Amino acid sequence: MTAHYSTDDTKSAQMLELMNNCYEYSTTSKNDVDSIINGKLLAQNKINTGADIIIKRLGASGHIPLSHTLWSQVIKVGDVVIDATCGNGNDSLLLAKLSIDIKKGCLYCIDIQSEAIKNTHIKLESELGDQLVNRIKFYQQNFTSFPTEILPNSVKCIVYNLGFLPRGNLSIITQTQDTLQSLRAALPLVTRGGLISVTCYRGHEGGEEEAAAVRQLAATLDPDKWRVFSHDPINRALAPVLITVYKI
Ligand SMILES: C[S@@+](CC[C@H](N)C(=O)[O-])C[C@H]1O[C@@H](n2cnc3c(N)ncnc32)[C@H](O)[C@@H]1O
Repeated sequence: MTAHYSTDDTKSAQMLELMNNCYEYSTTSKNDVDSIINGKLLAQNKINTGADIIIKRLGASGHIPLSHTLWSQVIKVGDVVIDATCGNGNDSLLLAKLSIDIKKGCLYCIDIQSEAIKNTHIKLESELGDQLVNRIKFYQQNFTSFPTEILPNSVKCIVYNLGFLPRGNLSIITQTQDTLQSLRAALPLVTRGGLISVTCYRGHEGGEEEAAAVRQLAATLDPDKWRVFSHDPINRALAPVLITVYKI
């Protein structure tokens, strides 16, 4: 196949397809999109998904490897952790590996969509097996509240990967007001030494506003109780931002 596109429509369709296929998408500029699309077309027989291209292209400098490294510094086997937007289960898989064995630990996988809960369940079951999956709880619900069985000061890590479900319904997307409500509900659940990790995508409509609102809320937290960081690429305006909130 030749790498060509002649209209904006064709290009938008290619970009949409790429984003749909790409869990770790980080498309930030016209040049980025061009090079990723070209890379995909050129490498089509060797590389199957947009995620592969991004990982190959960004390596350890991507926001996903960074967030995974930070979680792994905090979470130990036996901890309670929450994936508030479990999506296709990629983050949940790492969270499960860090937090549970057959005797201890608990992972809550939450998502508003049944498709996401189903995808995550299938992924975790096939990767981890029944015994470990028994320690994982699945809740299809809005993340504006958390299951009441989760006690205050009990959770080591709460993860948000905002936006829409890759390869899913693009119209179901995190909304700024819901996200803020969820973060307010999450704060009392975190134990000392624990972490809230929020990956915000700024490339889609409403994404920049959402990222700014998360940042603003995090910036107001009492510095005697919380340490807050924003990891944002400073030479790519719409690249994903990772905001981390540690309870001290
Ligand atoms: C970027 S995806 C998450 C990717 C996922 N962490 C993974 O590893 O595959 C964002 C997810 O947020 C979910 N979502 C959107 N609004 C939500 C809400 N209000 N409450 C809970 N989940 C929501 C979407 O259904 C989607 O699955």
